[in-house]
Amino acid sequence: MPFIENQWYGAVWAKDLGTEPKGLRILDKPILLFRTESGVAVMDDLCPHRFVPLHLGKVIDGNRVRCAYHGLEFDGTGTCVHNPHTSGRIPPAAKVKSYRAIERHGMVWVWLGEREADPALIPDLSPLESDGRPPASGPHYVQTGAQFSLVMKANYALIGDNLLDLSHACVLHDTLLGNLEMADAEIGIEDTNSGFIVRRLAVDTKLPALFHLMSKGALEQGDTWTDMELIGTTCFANHIGVNDAGKGRSGGTGLLGINILTPIDEETTLYHVDGVLVDPPHRSPEDHARIGQQMGELANFAFTAQDKVTLEAQQAAISDPALATSRPAMFDIDIGSARYARHLKSLLDADKTTELMPG
Ligand code: FES
Ligand SMILES: [Fe+2]
Repeated sequence: MPFIENQWYGAVWAKDLGTEPKGLRILDKPILLFRTESGVAVMDDLCPHRFVPLHLGKVIDGNRVRCAYHGLEFDGTGTCVHNPHTSGRIPPAAKVKSYRAIERHGMVWVWLGEREADPALIPDLSPLESDGRPPASGPHYVQTGAQFSLVMKANYALIGDNLLDLSHACVLHDTLLGNLEMADAEIGIEDTNSGFIVRRLAVDTKLPALFHLMSKGALEQGDTWTDMELIGTTCFANHIGVNDAGKGRSGGTGLLGINILTPIDEETTLYHVDGVLVDPPHRSPEDHARIGQQMGELANFAFTAQDKVTLEAQQAAISDPALATSRPAMFDIDIGSARYARHLKSLLDADKTTELMPG
C-alpha cells in the first residue's frame, strides 16, 4: 500500500525526544529531529557535503545541528549557518530540506508532504493530557502511564486492518481482550467527521482479563463494548468499556486506547500506543496507578507477543511471490476491514489529485 504524503504523522512520543538529535525513517525517507529553543526541527537526515547522516552529530546551543564528519552546522530550517574551515564560505547547495513539526498531546507530529500543513488536522487526543482530576462535566480521564512505541514488520494498512477487525480479539487475544463466547457480538459502522467508527457490543458475557480489570467491582460477567474509531488515516482511538450485564454502554467504565501508525517503509511501521482510563471506579491514585500499570502490561503483551507476531507472518505471506495472485475471502466479520480499504483508497486518490493541482 503506498503512502499518503499530505498528512500529519506521529514521529515520536515527546518524552522520547531528548536533547540529542534523533534519526528516524518515515515514508521511506531518512528524517532528522532535534529539539530547539523554539520547538522541534525536522529535516532530511543527510548532510549535503558528503551525505553523512546528521543524527550522528550533535545539537549546538539549542538551535542548530553540527555534522559529525567535518562540522558544518545547520539551523532548524536546514540552512547551513557555519563552516568552521578556511574561509568559512558556504555554497548555495549547502542546504537541507526541512519540514513542519508540531508537538501536541505528547506527540511530535511531522508533515512531509508538499501541500501546506494544517495544524487543525492533527487528531484531537487531548484526553492524553488529562491531569487526572474529575471534571465538572464530561468523561473523567486518568493516565495509565502505558505509553510506548514498537516497530512491526508489516505495512501500515495491514495494521489498520487489524485494528478495525474487532473479531480477532476473540481468538488471537483469547482470555485477555476477548473470548469465543463474545464471537456472536453485534458489529456496526458509523461515519464520523474525520473517518468512521466500528462498534461491537457483547451482551452478558464472560469477561476477559482487560474488561475484568477495568470493571466496577471486579466483575466476572457483564456487557462489553469495543468501538474502534479511525481518525483521518493512521490514528485509531479504541473506546472500550464494561458494565453490569444488561446495562449496555450507559454508565459503564472503560479505557480509551490510542494507536498511531507511521509508515517506516512499505513493509515496516512505527506503532505508537497510549491509553487513559475513562470514568474509572477506583478513586485512589494508588488504585489508578496499579490498574493502569496492569492494563498497560496486558496491552503490551497483546500487541507485541500476539498481534506483532501474527501480522509479521501475514506480511511475509503476502509478500511471498508464490502467493501473489491470492485474494482474501471476505466474511461478514470483515465489514470494518472492507470499509477501511475503501476509505484508504479515497484518501490516496485525493492525496494524488492535490499533488497534481497547480499552486
Ligand atoms: S559530511 Fe557533513 S560536514 Fe562533511
Ligand atoms: Fe489485536
